[in-house]
Amino acid sequence: MATAVSNIAPPEVAREVIDPRAYAEWDHLLGTFDWLREHLPVARIEAAEPGLHPPFWLLTRYEDMMRVSKENALFLNNPHTVVFSTTDGIEFAKKFSGGSEHMVASLVTFDAPTHMKYRKLTQDWFMPKNLRGLEDEIRTIARAAVDRLLTGGEEVDFCKTVAAPYPLHVVMQILGVPEEDEPRMLMLTQQMFGGQDEDLNQSGMKDLPPEVITQIVAGAVKDFEAYFAKLTAEKRANPTGDVASTIANATVDGEALNDRDMMGYYIIVAAAGHDTTSASTAGAMLALAQDPEQWAKVKADRSLLAGIVEESIRWTTPVQHFMRTAAEDTEIGGQKIAKGDWIMINYVAANHDPSQFDDPRRFDASRENNRHLAFGAGAHKCLGLHLARLEMRILFEELLDRIDTVELAGEAKRSNSTFVGGLKSLPLRIKAA
Ligand code: HEM
Repeated sequence: MATAVSNIAPPEVAREVIDPRAYAEWDHLLGTFDWLREHLPVARIEAAEPGLHPPFWLLTRYEDMMRVSKENALFLNNPHTVVFSTTDGIEFAKKFSGGSEHMVASLVTFDAPTHMKYRKLTQDWFMPKNLRGLEDEIRTIARAAVDRLLTGGEEVDFCKTVAAPYPLHVVMQILGVPEEDEPRMLMLTQQMFGGQDEDLNQSGMKDLPPEVITQIVAGAVKDFEAYFAKLTAEKRANPTGDVASTIANATVDGEALNDRDMMGYYIIVAAAGHDTTSASTAGAMLALAQDPEQWAKVKADRSLLAGIVEESIRWTTPVQHFMRTAAEDTEIGGQKIAKGDWIMINYVAANHDPSQFDDPRRFDASRENNRHLAFGAGAHKCLGLHLARLEMRILFEELLDRIDTVELAGEAKRSNSTFVGGLKSLPLRIKAA
């Protein structure tokens, strides 16, 4: 690649870092982030085609992203959208929402002081103390997933059989969504988060124009809203102690949540709660299928499991970015940033920074001090991180108990997505214990 002569990224780089297909070509993308970190750690990304998207600053150094994540008063989640979008997408969201760049209003689109008031409503629910009471229920769901895997034939797709349905089922139980409605929830969240991938957006079409993708996402949001309006009425009439009952009956500053805020709350828990954990779960299985020695070791010594779970979350980095807006003129890593500038925290790049992680592309479950940024940091740090770890631990305990050996039966494929991404298929050959 050419030597950098200004703070503006070369056009081929600008094209790649916003291309959903580039995130399926993981190794190449990691190489691009390495180049940027060395030559342009705070890179100006300007649209390769005029007007395609607003310019933004792309960060690739771990320490810069840790700082930006933690300085929540200086780096805001408003007014620009927190998920990268094209100019057309932003205009569509504004029309859809009545003026906001955020298609949905949720915890990730609030800043202080509103953010903490909303976060507090469900925070205790997601703490280890409360989650301990859910372990048995989660284990039952994990066992059913392993049953499906073991009865799925000689070759099974781990993503479709286990990694996708298992966390979905857990989060839907937590929300209080009846089991028969889960396929609809899966389709809607995949359309929202996988809107850029032809296998996940249910269109079966490659290279959809951005406006069509936006329409698919907007359709999913509307469908979600209709579904949760009904659930709210039920949980108000009949609260059952689940998260949906908490949200339906919550008050902020003495008032019930308005429709947009309430829907956004359900949507973020429903959506953030499963595709993410699916991706890290599939990644952990890929790492183990590629390394039979490691599989045998952890089968014999379960104390190694926590390291495998944490490393797979770093190694896969399911949430690939979030955006921030500078509240004031400032600097990042010596680069001047103007008030109102849009900034991309790229967690994939942060978690592959060699100054923080030795040999970052290697899956190394024995990493000490694995302070990855996959869950973010600061005020918005993932609310569901204890749940994600718990789900993975329980599932792998069950898998390790009941499977003797596991090997790859074909090519593992990644999804096309700049936002939440990971494996969409993982063909395995499994020998039961
Ligand atoms: C926020 C990653 C699982 C619910 C976030 C953020 C990231 C993230 C990067 C933004 C952090 C920031 O801005 O600093 C992940 C990963 C997961 C996972 C990698 C799995 C491996 C879950 C689960 C749930 C969940 C299981 C809930 C059931 C949320 C919520 C927020 C959030 C509600 C917004 C928090 C706020 O803005 O205050 N997550 N997440 N996540 N996550 Fe997760």
